[in-house]
Amino acid sequence: MQLAKRLLFTEEYYFSKKLREIEEMNSTGKKVINLGIGSPDLPPHPDVIETLKEYAEQPHTHGYQNYKGILPLREAISSWYKRFYQVTLNPNTEVLPLMGSKEGIVHICMTYLEEGTEALIPNPGYPTYASAVRLSGAKAVTYDLSEENGWLPDLKKLEQMNLSKVKIMWINYPHMPTGTDSTQEFFEELVQFAKRNNILICHDNPYSFILNDNPKSILSVEGAMDVAIELNSLSKSSNMAGWRVGMLVGNAQRLQEILRFKSNMDSGMFLAVQMSAAKALSLDKSWYDELNAVYRERQKIAFSMLEHLGCKYDPKQVGLFTWGRVPEKYDSAYELSDEILEKARVFITPGGIFGEAGKQYIRISLCGTLDTFSEAMNRIIEISI
Ligand SMILES: Cc1ncc(COP(=O)(O)O)c(C=O)c1O
Repeated sequence: MQLAKRLLFTEEYYFSKKLREIEEMNSTGKKVINLGIGSPDLPPHPDVIETLKEYAEQPHTHGYQNYKGILPLREAISSWYKRFYQVTLNPNTEVLPLMGSKEGIVHICMTYLEEGTEALIPNPGYPTYASAVRLSGAKAVTYDLSEENGWLPDLKKLEQMNLSKVKIMWINYPHMPTGTDSTQEFFEELVQFAKRNNILICHDNPYSFILNDNPKSILSVEGAMDVAIELNSLSKSSNMAGWRVGMLVGNAQRLQEILRFKSNMDSGMFLAVQMSAAKALSLDKSWYDELNAVYRERQKIAFSMLEHLGCKYDPKQVGLFTWGRVPEKYDSAYELSDEILEKARVFITPGGIFGEAGKQYIRISLCGTLDTFSEAMNRIIEISI
């Protein structure tokens, strides 16, 4: 079959290919320790599981649900935003539950982009931004982030470019893969930039609770509701990656426009999942504190691993990963990642998959038990690097 043109520049997702390779390695010898993917290994809160059971057992909960999500979930999202981000959202119009934030990235691109338009995407950044922009037919224009610039975009430099075709700009802080948090000042500058250039800022915010005591939303900045929308997710902060629950929040008109696309793609989430998500969002700060106590211990070993490999890193980084610069002797971090995979059977993500600007870096996921980390560390120490 001839593939549709929109797929010509969209390859199979890197991790989908890599996991196949790792499975093949597993069938021929010692199991590979995978420190590549950010899928939380810890379970959700027991009350969340109880809620799922309770609603799944009832006979009337199995039908199609409302396209814009049930009210108790939208209310829970709204009060979560108020409690943790100091943002007021109308649960009827300014909150849209999603089946994970990844689908939201595609919905937003399909709603606003088409051939002849452009979207700004971060380099390095989450690969789905570029794929979703390309699937929509638009051009993905990368903006470079660098260690020297504190991994924040240079807005002055961006404004020297021709931005007339740019409709949306993807940003993501705390930033994956570098673990950089943003500042309130940066969000304020960004809102002004968006106003001056008539660009919709799409902030992807799934990591704000991980190893971070100060979660921020761009919507807390004055005027942001006019020019920005925000994606958020329960995947990382509630250990519910496989449940597929996310949200889009912001301007009511934007959400209505995006629902026009989304409501043609799916038919709502299982009621029991939505009720459980509402429960997860009602947990207090101690839930995040306990989670972070675990991640902090893992981060210490991940830092030692980076040190052992001769990598430099920022000890203040936040989020679910650890990011470090590989020694100069490597042409790229792909080389180091392949060497560790082959000799130690430990998989660590090469930063180049997030864009050219990540080429000299590696990313270690914190989604493994302390035992897994110790074993990975031992295996790495055993090989001579
Ligand atoms: C930056 C970023 N955005 C979005 C997602 C997707 O998260 P979700 O599980 O909510 O679709 C990920 C997942 O790894 C991510 O790293």
